[in-house]
Amino acid sequence: MLKVAILGAGRIAQIHSKSAFLNTQCELKLIADPWKEGVDKLAKELNCEAVYDYYEAINRDDIDAIVIATATDLHVDLMLHAVKCKKPVLCEKPIDLDFGRSITAVQEIQSHNGKVMLAFNRRFDEDTIAIKNAILNNEIGEVRQVIITSRDPGMQPVEYMKTSGGIFKDMTIHDFDTARHILGEEPVEIFATASRLVDEELETINDYDTCSITLKTKSGKQCIINNCREAVYGYDQRIEVLGSQGLLKTQNHRPSTLKKYTHDFTSSQQPLLNFFLERYVDSYRKEFDVFVACLVDSQEFPTSLFDGLQALYLAVCAMESVESNQAIIVNPEGPSKSLAA
Ligand SMILES: NC(=O)c1ccc[n+]([C@@H]2O[C@H](COP(=O)([O-])OP(=O)(O)OC[C@H]3O[C@@H](n4cnc5c(N)ncnc54)[C@H](O)[C@@H]3O)[C@@H](O)[C@H]2O)c1
Repeated sequence: MLKVAILGAGRIAQIHSKSAFLNTQCELKLIADPWKEGVDKLAKELNCEAVYDYYEAINRDDIDAIVIATATDLHVDLMLHAVKCKKPVLCEKPIDLDFGRSITAVQEIQSHNGKVMLAFNRRFDEDTIAIKNAILNNEIGEVRQVIITSRDPGMQPVEYMKTSGGIFKDMTIHDFDTARHILGEEPVEIFATASRLVDEELETINDYDTCSITLKTKSGKQCIINNCREAVYGYDQRIEVLGSQGLLKTQNHRPSTLKKYTHDFTSSQQPLLNFFLERYVDSYRKEFDVFVACLVDSQEFPTSLFDGLQALYLAVCAMESVESNQAIIVNPEGPSKSLAA
């Protein structure tokens, strides 16, 4: 049995801890967080040990694999320590908010032959998998245009926004990864426009709440991403792919497909699944299961630090496009190409 330590006891760490608890190929040995109240409660609920120091958890001889689900600013240091201790890692996105620091860290991790899977959970969502399989099976011919709609149900707390790194590194980063995955080619051009339509105060932290981004690959394939931090009808997550021989479309998820018809409404449905912890719960579980299965079967991880760098690079280019109000030519190989596994 692979013995796993989860670093963090916050929102996403709670999800990964439950995935580890349910996985039959591993043992959830401990959860670590200096936030004593949170880690004690979670560890008790999942019948494992609570540890109050991240490094102590990584150092322990009875730990085989590490999940980093802490605040973003700790990812790089914890990842480096884990790979130096020869422990494989599943690390939450983003690698770091600073692109230069991310590249340096990845180079060092590679010099230690570190094994790291980056947590882009949407690749493990059943809708994304169905889209990718349909494209690979040539069911809609050549991909021409991808439209990704990703809108949050409401603004996150101000404290979160201040440390999030901004909409592109925090929110769109998932869509950048999904775009690369579905297009099957690296973007060479990006144009982004962004506004503050929900909260003007975001200007004080140089952030935006509403943005549209167009990506183009060398062969001319396009992806249009639209994000907003507030959609009053709920968490809106849809993808459309136009191909030379057809169209693929995914819909929002609800607790059931029930439709209600009454004297004042027809075809009314239950609200959308609320936010990422509900909508993507199965994908987080699958992501964790794949991490463990890759380790048990000595397979390559399907998502890498290279993917993490590429998505972060697109986020940096998107901000540059907003600030210059111009399309940015993206180096298709990325400044991180030499780091590709
Ligand atoms: N893959 C995804 O879909 C996804 C979703 C959310 C977050 N993330 C990433 O996961 C990482 C962690 O994000 P999160 O949203 O889980 O962070 P979080 O704010 O819930 O937790 C982060 C840390 O904050 C502290 N903390 C949390 N709640 C606290 C409380 N009530 N009192 C005192 N301390 C508390 C804990 O030390 C915890 O480890 C980030 O890097 C983020 O980018 C990824």
